[in-house]
Amino acid sequence: MAKLSILEQKQIAAAAAAEFVENRMIVGLGSGSTSEFAVRLLAEKVKAGLKIVGVPSSITTEKLARRLKIPLVSDFGVITKIDLTIDGADEVDPQLNLIKGGGGALTREKIVTSRSERVIIIVDEKKLVKKLGKFAVPVEILPFGWRSTMELLRSFGARTKLREQAKTAPFRTDNGNYIVDCAFGKIKNPPLLAQQLKSIIGVVETGLFISRADLVLVGRNTGRVEEKWSA
Ligand code: A5P
Repeated sequence: MAKLSILEQKQIAAAAAAEFVENRMIVGLGSGSTSEFAVRLLAEKVKAGLKIVGVPSSITTEKLARRLKIPLVSDFGVITKIDLTIDGADEVDPQLNLIKGGGGALTREKIVTSRSERVIIIVDEKKLVKKLGKFAVPVEILPFGWRSTMELLRSFGARTKLREQAKTAPFRTDNGNYIVDCAFGKIKNPPLLAQQLKSIIGVVETGLFISRADLVLVGRNTGRVEEKWSA
């Protein structure tokens, strides 16, 4: 049998996650290509009568969800609790720690996941790693004093690169900030590194998501979706 492509693996993981969404839930909507599959599937369910309210984690996801007519909260501040968030990831380790932020939405994603009762992460099998760190950790920083913030990031062992927008200007997040991609190589202690990076004044948030996933759904090339539950 033909093996599933990466895109198909993302698609089956998203479909499996959509099955966890129940009527009347407040649902955090992740960002990135895998989350987009989930948002599209949820939109179909809404069209068929499912009643949910979505909380988008980026402007791109918000625009998509609006276009697809998923009801959204207009003011995130009024929501105290999200029932379930479905989001993608760039890397997942055996403890279900994650690197996220390849698309630059990490801060809003972290706010949304941290307000969620349950977080389901959907990935293709290439995202599974023994140790986090092959993917450079995206770190959102304030533009003010960015060079010195980058210097401090380097002092923790990172090779740093300011993310650019089409090589002409720094990439700006939805919050108007910069992203520094920090290559550490294999990260020995992700929780410690997350704390250290977060302690730098000027760092808004890091793409290290520690103990945030309750369930990771992995689309395998065999067509199976593997469930990895947090301990
Ligand atoms: C967005 O900023 C990210 O956190 C994405 O969730 C992550 O980069 C995964 O993206 P894909 O689903 O496009 O691989």
